[in-house]
Amino acid sequence: MVTAVKRRVAILISGRGSNMAALIAAAKTPGFPAEITVVISNKTDAPGLAKAKENNVATLVIDSAPFGKDRAAFEAALQTALDQHEIELICLGGFMRLLTTEFVERWAGKMLNIHPSLLPSFRGLDPHGQALRAGVKISGATVHFVTPEMDAGPIIMQGAVAVREDDTPDTLAERVLRIEHRIYPDALRLVASNGARIDGDVCRTDATGSPDDTLVSPAII
Ligand code: GAR
Repeated sequence: MVTAVKRRVAILISGRGSNMAALIAAAKTPGFPAEITVVISNKTDAPGLAKAKENNVATLVIDSAPFGKDRAAFEAALQTALDQHEIELICLGGFMRLLTTEFVERWAGKMLNIHPSLLPSFRGLDPHGQALRAGVKISGATVHFVTPEMDAGPIIMQGAVAVREDDTPDTLAERVLRIEHRIYPDALRLVASNGARIDGDVCRTDATGSPDDTLVSPAII
């Protein structure tokens, strides 16, 4: 039997790592076109590190604290690790450190991020608070290619949830997180199998729309 070569992926985390765990679980399924080669944290105490180890995924800490504002030096250490592991694709999973334009351009079209809003709305911090203050009736999450601007770049996949009248940032975050765990593995599958192409500011895919293309919120019953 011929086994297709899997793309080698590094996941970069800073904290909980629930998206990381979803990617690791998906990568274990038969036929998934990528393997999670290493999880790298810039925080020594990121809870996601233990989860990765439990799943027998190699982990590495490159503590960003001693580098202070010297982003280039931190990224040189990061790049060395990525080279050592022969990484082809990077997935940011709650990686809370800004990357330099040089590093982002080095990984153009090969670095994915997930953000818990329907971009281009509500970039940056507190996206759920921003969504609730704006009174949107639908929110969600976005997987996109990383460009130098924060929480921007060609959109690979989005998932939506209805916002409820009594939502708080925490309850909305919980429902959006469930959809994050669905779309991040699917987006990685698409990219790793060469099903996504960057066309200017836009990502084109071979995938078709959702079986049910509509989500109306609030629903009038
Ligand atoms: C996720 O909700 C992710 O979308 C968000 O951080 C959380 C990390 O959770 N990322 C951003 O806000 C990026 N701007 P996790 O560590 O459990 O995956």
